[in-house]
Amino acid sequence: MKTPTMRLDRLLANLGYGSRREVGQMVAAGLIVLDGARLRDPGERLPLTTDLPERMHVGGAPIDPPPPLTLIVHKPLGVVCSHREPGRSIYELLPQRWRRREPTLSTIGRLDVDTTGLLLITDDGALLHRVISPRAKVRKRYLTTLDRPLSGQEAAIFAAGELVLEGETEALAPAMLEPLSSTTAWLTITEGRYHQVRRMFAAVGNHVVALHRDRIGGLDLPADLGSGEWRLTTSENLASIFAGDHAA
Ligand code: URA
Repeated sequence: MKTPTMRLDRLLANLGYGSRREVGQMVAAGLIVLDGARLRDPGERLPLTTDLPERMHVGGAPIDPPPPLTLIVHKPLGVVCSHREPGRSIYELLPQRWRRREPTLSTIGRLDVDTTGLLLITDDGALLHRVISPRAKVRKRYLTTLDRPLSGQEAAIFAAGELVLEGETEALAPAMLEPLSSTTAWLTITEGRYHQVRRMFAAVGNHVVALHRDRIGGLDLPADLGSGEWRLTTSENLASIFAGDHAA
């Protein structure tokens, strides 16, 4: 397949470095370097290869990764998964200019403000839809800490695929509960309905006091990724989301 190309000024503007005019000024100032040579023409077409960050520098720093870009984020408590909602946004954890990227970065599904753990952020719309589509049945695993002891009935109720959440008419898909103690359990679900885990426990008379997602499909939250930290995904990471027995 032929490698797509893009004008230098458009490439940098889409990566959030500035308007095309500002990028033109950066080029004129000799700030853009490719393979060791200063680029002089903002209209020059460049091949969009994945090795661009190794070959191209902006003001002495490697250029940001071009699309498609997907990040693994360890979401901390107290941040919202939205560009617009009030409160501290998950996007504030990323470099500021990434908020001006085109295509824009979005979270793959959302975690509540008081949920922590594994969150994916991407500019790849096809990937996003593949992960969140209920038909794809990608499993999401949550560590749930409960206010009251489990009764012992919950695993069967969740597994039956007959539970209808308050205000809804369609039963939830079967979900798997694995108790760890009287008040803690893993819950694995394949959908992503609004506040789903909290509402599932509310439906059985309990209350979630802490919620942490540690796995999406076969992709685990890396043990060495601290709260509030993020990293780029590898192709292996992306493949593991849809891998084998982790996707139903
Ligand atoms: N279910 C919830 O209730 N909250 C989340 O953040 C994720 C799943």
